Amino acid sequence: MVADGTLARPFRVGCVDIPNRVVLAPMAGLTSGAYRQHLKAHGVGLTTTEMVSSYGLIYRNVRTDEYLDFTPEERPLAVQLFGDTPEVMARAAEMVLSRPAVPDLIDINMGCPVRKVLKTGAGSALLGDPDRAVAVAASVVQVAAQAGIPVTVKLRTGLRPGERTAVELAPRLEGVGVLGITVHPRAASEHYRGKADHSITAAVAEAVHIPIMASGDISTVASALEVVRSTGAAAVMVARGVAGNPWLVTQLLAGVEADRPALPAVIDDVRLLLGRAVKERGSERAARWLRKLLGWYLRPSGVAASVVETLRNLPDARALDEALDELGRTASE
Ligand SMILES: Cc1cc2nc3c(=O)[nH]c(=O)nc-3n(C[C@H](O)[C@H](O)[C@H](O)COP(=O)(O)O)c2cc1C
Repeated sequence: MVADGTLARPFRVGCVDIPNRVVLAPMAGLTSGAYRQHLKAHGVGLTTTEMVSSYGLIYRNVRTDEYLDFTPEERPLAVQLFGDTPEVMARAAEMVLSRPAVPDLIDINMGCPVRKVLKTGAGSALLGDPDRAVAVAASVVQVAAQAGIPVTVKLRTGLRPGERTAVELAPRLEGVGVLGITVHPRAASEHYRGKADHSITAAVAEAVHIPIMASGDISTVASALEVVRSTGAAAVMVARGVAGNPWLVTQLLAGVEADRPALPAVIDDVRLLLGRAVKERGSERAARWLRKLLGWYLRPSGVAASVVETLRNLPDARALDEALDELGRTASE
């Protein structure tokens, strides 16, 4: 395969320079500061917070507030907000922008398919009410423009398979000043099942003049380059493809597939991430937080499910780190 540097080139969203075209997806429960720092070190050009509840901010929920914390090394960074009405989302945007550290971008979630979110009228529920979706975007743009911060929107295709709401909505969002759109081309009712239909990403890209970020099934260099080629997207967004495989980012930037590192190097990477998580949330919470990633990291490297299960049940980061160290040393022998 010939190296293809397409994804290593910079691009812009409004006034924000993004050093390359591999963007880290927002992932609830995963893309905390520790994870963003880790993936930034692996090379992503833009990071995004987990989705942040506008009501949580307005009612000053302490945990919600923590979602907005970030360090300079995570920049450029987008804060993703979800909410149901223009008023609530504008207020939440004001709160984000009144903090000492202001993000580079604000992203609006119009894709979350989780029932708890949908029934409040937020996330992908906005796809069922395009006028309200546009009004929400317009209100956030109005607030963010005063601070010079570009607003982006993350869309699914529609509520149900076959719907092309994203294609109709995108030009209207552009019309109220949205400066970038991410398309995850699955319907909300499909959650994460089936294959992302990037012909819809292409149709959205065709309908607007702002950069499109393509999300969905970016798991190899070939799939990423094919998505960019066939859709005209400015960038790819990596989500499940990098969970347990952050080396995909380097491969995407170089435009060359490579083998997964050997187990000792995989373990070194997990331990580095664990260390970052400990700094962020303390020993016990860090070990709990890392649980879901252990299988993604270790199973593809041939570690038995029973060993992963034992690691998942360790009570704190110190015990987990020691067990990982031992596993790495056994693997190197
Ligand atoms: C665990 C998990 C959490 C997610 N959380 C969010 C979120 O908070 N906001 C959002 O817009 N999308 C969220 N997504 C969707 C991803 O950003 C992405 O669009 C989707 O996973 C498709 O990409 P993939 O097929 O490469 O995984 C989440 C996905 C996963 C797997």
